[in-house]
Amino acid sequence: MSISAIFEKPSERTEDPLRIIIRRPDDWHIHLRDGSMLKAVLPFTAAQFARGIIMPNLSPPVTRVEDAVAYRQRILDARPTESDFQPFMACYLTDHTSADDIERGFVEGVWKAAKLYPAGATTNAHHGVTDVLLINRVLERMERIGMPLLVHSEVTDPDVDIFDREARFLERTMVPLLERYQLLKVVIEHVTTAEGVAIVRDYAPRVAATITPHHLTINRTSLFQGGLRPHLYCLPVAKREEHRLALRSAATSGEASFFIGTDTAPHLRGAKEAACGCAGVFVGATALQTYVQVFDEEGALPRFEAFASLNGAAFYGLPPNAGTIELIKRPSRFSPTIEVDGAEVVVFRGDENLVWSIGNIEK
Ligand code: NCD
Ligand code: ZN
Repeated sequence: MSISAIFEKPSERTEDPLRIIIRRPDDWHIHLRDGSMLKAVLPFTAAQFARGIIMPNLSPPVTRVEDAVAYRQRILDARPTESDFQPFMACYLTDHTSADDIERGFVEGVWKAAKLYPAGATTNAHHGVTDVLLINRVLERMERIGMPLLVHSEVTDPDVDIFDREARFLERTMVPLLERYQLLKVVIEHVTTAEGVAIVRDYAPRVAATITPHHLTINRTSLFQGGLRPHLYCLPVAKREEHRLALRSAATSGEASFFIGTDTAPHLRGAKEAACGCAGVFVGATALQTYVQVFDEEGALPRFEAFASLNGAAFYGLPPNAGTIELIKRPSRFSPTIEVDGAEVVVFRGDENLVWSIGNIEK
């Protein structure tokens, strides 16, 4: 069955805004953290998305099936009363992950996927994998049972320029891995380069990529616009404009291998505005408004539903959500910050007038 977005174009009354109604979307890459941060940020993701993959880079990381079951329950308990948000868990791979444990968690329906962080590549990645050869048996098993591998695709070699780290990882590690495990399903998480987009196309449909709202809207110059912008700093870092344009054309192409993964990654203001500020952008509250604006700007609104609500679910072997969400081309404003335990998290585009607003949600 093909599901196409419903467009309501009120032709006579020009003051009526454009609105679209699509299946409820999912977010395939979310950092919810834990404790009071989890309680503070979850409502914003749950207000936009029906389901999502929760990243396991807690401290300590979510490596065991039992940890994931407990964390999933804390997420369910932190949901607002009316929320039906469904979290799916990803296993944090280490040099010591066991193939049998991975399979058990997947068969029991606890793990939806496993996440490969090269050791030290990003926030809380120091327990990550030091060499992919060490997880050979895990990858073989995942290939056999059809469990997707989600990859933070950056080399950690300090000699490699930070803006080249994704491209180097893709050529040094990703392509050999895809050649070695020819049936393994892989997601290049938060793709930021034209090279990444090209590899996804070469290996589709078993290879896919998530694309964030910020990588569609900022480039590396934005990080220094008028001064240093710590709240736009994330990993992989935003690249040159030509890469942003490649991401925009991939996202809006309608191709099944590209879908939403916001990489919403909240950090307290003090941890971002610091001598050594940490990586991550809190984009959960303004993600959908940003994505739909990009599709509108690219003349691609008829393909928004595929990117937001169909492609990711199909990749993970799930049906699309039954309900719908309405998006309205009417200015809205979020808030510059949200509060967490008396401290603040700065919201991506929280100080801007957004062009689109979120309307009715039918569950
Ligand atoms: C993420 C975080 O803060 O957990 N940070 C980021 O810059 N994206 C980790 C990650 O996904 O790399
Ligand atoms: Zn992330």
